[in-house]
Amino acid sequence: MKSLTPADAISSRMSVRAFTEEGVSKETIIKLLNLAARAPSGTNTQPWKVYVLEGEKLQDLCNQVCTAYDSIAANPELAKEFKPAYDYYPTKWFSPYIDRRRENGWGLYGLLGITKGDKDKMHAQHRKNFTAFGAPICLFFTIDKELGKGSMLDYGMFLQNFMIAARGEGLDTCPQAAWNDYSKMILPFIGAADNEMLVCGMALGYADQSEIVNTFHTPRVGAEEFTTWIT
Ligand SMILES: Cc1cc2nc3c(=O)[nH]c(=O)nc-3n(C[C@H](O)[C@H](O)[C@H](O)COP(=O)(O)O)c2cc1C
Repeated sequence: MKSLTPADAISSRMSVRAFTEEGVSKETIIKLLNLAARAPSGTNTQPWKVYVLEGEKLQDLCNQVCTAYDSIAANPELAKEFKPAYDYYPTKWFSPYIDRRRENGWGLYGLLGITKGDKDKMHAQHRKNFTAFGAPICLFFTIDKELGKGSMLDYGMFLQNFMIAARGEGLDTCPQAAWNDYSKMILPFIGAADNEMLVCGMALGYADQSEIVNTFHTPRVGAEEFTTWIT
């Protein structure tokens, strides 16, 4: 395999939402995790803790979370019982973030032929999160609850390193905050201690290039727009 330049690895990373069944060796995952751990962190605290799920264990967790997700759809009252440990998103959305969020959501659904009000199809698409989009590996990342906000910055660098390093091995990823609602099921399942909080999950594997969902490429605001030069 031809090695990618850092720029190519960064630009070719995208959230892949359909994977082939081809597995990833433990050796490769350890290589990626060691590369990810080269991320900087405040005073080198290295706040990451990782759980790798595959095979029957992954299938078991996916089944349990899919069942919970379906039960909430059948009885929305149950949603109250499933809350993430931290706010990834604001409670009240505002521009320009809400606009980008909508553009992203409807862009993806539009590509998949899902229209407004098509609740069953939306449910089915979102549910794929809880199958790790068919990936053979799903990683779960936790952090000690007592750490400060800065450690979440460190964590982001670790996660990005992991995703970029995965590209270097011809692998793809999808970071997944969707799992966070089910942390009360996931944390005991993976054997996390009481002081751990779920940061997010991540699907890892080989992209299924025949799936239209993987043709979804997201735009970015250009540097001129978000940068101010003070001279
Ligand atoms: C921490 C984090 C959590 C995310 N959670 C989900 C998720 O649960 N499900 C999903 O389909 N995409 C998820 N995404 C992917 C974003 O939607 C995606 O990064 C964004 O739309 C930009 O697209 P790109 O990753 O293809 O460049 C997540 C991304 C990040 C960084």
